[in-house]
Amino acid sequence: MDSDVLTRQPGENAGADAVASRPAPSTADPLWWRSAVIYQVYVRSFADGNGDGTGDLAGVRTRLGYLKDLGVDAIWFNPWYPSPMADGGYDVEDYRDIHPQFGTLAEAEALIAEALALGIRTIIDVVPNHISEQHPWFQAALAAGPGSPDRERFWFHPGTGENGDGIPTHWVSSFQGETWTRTTNPDGTPGEWYLHMFTPEQPDLNWNHPDVRREHEEILRFWFDRGVAGVRIDSAALLIKDPDLPEVGEKEGPGQHPTEDRDELHDVYRSWRAVADAYPGTRVLVGEIWVPDIDRFTAYLRPDEMHTAFNFDFLARPWGAASFRDSISQTLAAHAPVGAPSTWVLSNHDVTRPVTRYGREDTAFAFLKKRFGVPTDPELGRDRARAAALLVAALPGSLYIYQGDELGLPEVEDLPRDLIEDPMHYRSGGIDPGRDGCRVPLPWSGDEAPFGFGAAGTRAWLPQPAAWSALTVETQEADPRSTLLLYRSALRLRRELIELADAPLAWWDDAVPGARDVLAFRRGDGFACVLNAGEDPVALPPGEVLLTSTEVDGSLPPNSAAWLRLQTPPVSTTNTPESSAPRG
Ligand code: GLC
Repeated sequence: MDSDVLTRQPGENAGADAVASRPAPSTADPLWWRSAVIYQVYVRSFADGNGDGTGDLAGVRTRLGYLKDLGVDAIWFNPWYPSPMADGGYDVEDYRDIHPQFGTLAEAEALIAEALALGIRTIIDVVPNHISEQHPWFQAALAAGPGSPDRERFWFHPGTGENGDGIPTHWVSSFQGETWTRTTNPDGTPGEWYLHMFTPEQPDLNWNHPDVRREHEEILRFWFDRGVAGVRIDSAALLIKDPDLPEVGEKEGPGQHPTEDRDELHDVYRSWRAVADAYPGTRVLVGEIWVPDIDRFTAYLRPDEMHTAFNFDFLARPWGAASFRDSISQTLAAHAPVGAPSTWVLSNHDVTRPVTRYGREDTAFAFLKKRFGVPTDPELGRDRARAAALLVAALPGSLYIYQGDELGLPEVEDLPRDLIEDPMHYRSGGIDPGRDGCRVPLPWSGDEAPFGFGAAGTRAWLPQPAAWSALTVETQEADPRSTLLLYRSALRLRRELIELADAPLAWWDDAVPGARDVLAFRRGDGFACVLNAGEDPVALPPGEVLLTSTEVDGSLPPNSAAWLRLQTPPVSTTNTPESSAPRG
């Protein structure tokens, strides 16, 4: 056993100087997106530059140095457009401007340029499935009445029955409840119904209409012209609906669901790819695709469609070596034939924070399981979230980090009910806590709220727990064992180690002979990651310890992970299809 192991502290990095390292990344690299680290900024909750309690672009601009120090390659901004905020900004009123609470278009342009000067690209959220009811198109459609061309950009439909008061279909909203709302005619009589897969404030667009297609391609150009390096495509598998409006289950077979994952979508994304490819540098398309069939999922990643899509299979998996290995193997195998890199995502603005989720008895994620009062063990969750962070950072592909996960923030589960804004909460009749618990403003510094999120004495739009004084950036920067410093070390090593750039993954089956619930893999000959997901310590395989998620003393404790520099290639490995994946 290397004597170094005995003294290594979490977050410390002994090996970085000693190992094969790769050159600093260049913003001109056309393949930047294949192994990029992308940090998700939920603007409302990142940093408040003007003291109104809501995060803004001015706040982000003052914190770019933090993101550079963290070691990210790009920022993905949640929607920053003018919006009535019926769904946290996913109800867009104007796709070519910035919400006045967040700043101005000129500030966005400055931010994009300033970030790029630090080597950080900008990815923005586009929301093509639906718009805000306040968008001029929808307002015009309401005013123009039934049968008008303005209504054809949406899904207006008469109701069933003699008086048209029956709902056109019984499709269920992703936010629970019905997906059609009846309009009122100008003379006050009940009118047609319109479709909304989310809230009634988010009418769905009709993607069979040429205006809708043209408009979104122009929106892409608008932002690419401003230096945006890519787009995250919201609800990307929902855009196309079956115009016959069948009920779910009336038709069978892949691509025949009335509202999800329809084959016609691929044409839309081929056109988008052509728009992106007309720009210099690589402008990436990243899909939010919740499609359970992995082959249907990777079909969106063929070379003339999207570049990558979020790997929600891994995010939803329960804690455990077998469950993680199964997901990783399947993911790599399914991506290899299309030549796309996989993505690794532990959380985002829609799901329960990993620290809380991994501390529960049931560690799998599912929207419909979210309830108040489910117990969690915060220490266990923290240990596992740190170990999972090392695991995903060592996998081939791109890595997404949701703001605050690098601080080990827990889900805030005791928000005052009257302050919760998320429609998932109130549309469930208050049963589902909703998603605001992972959207609480970040703690930066100081001993009391707003913890540097805004100026002292200001009040953040959601209250931060008093205990977050121990989790501020300031506190964690001074603590070598902090989660923040663990993330910084991991991202620095990820950049430096040549194997983590593009070496294939090979499972290392006998890394810890006889151990159950251990996951180990190698990248190239010289790097290994070992996760102990079990309940007992296991012996660390021989090698120089580069980084660990917890203190090690020769053995790897339960719920922890280690990165190792191997002196000699291990004897037994299983190669994955990733080893033969084409590039480009
Ligand atoms: C996506 C977003 C989510 C939003 C929904 C409707 O799933 O991530 O936050 O509520 O789309 O736009």
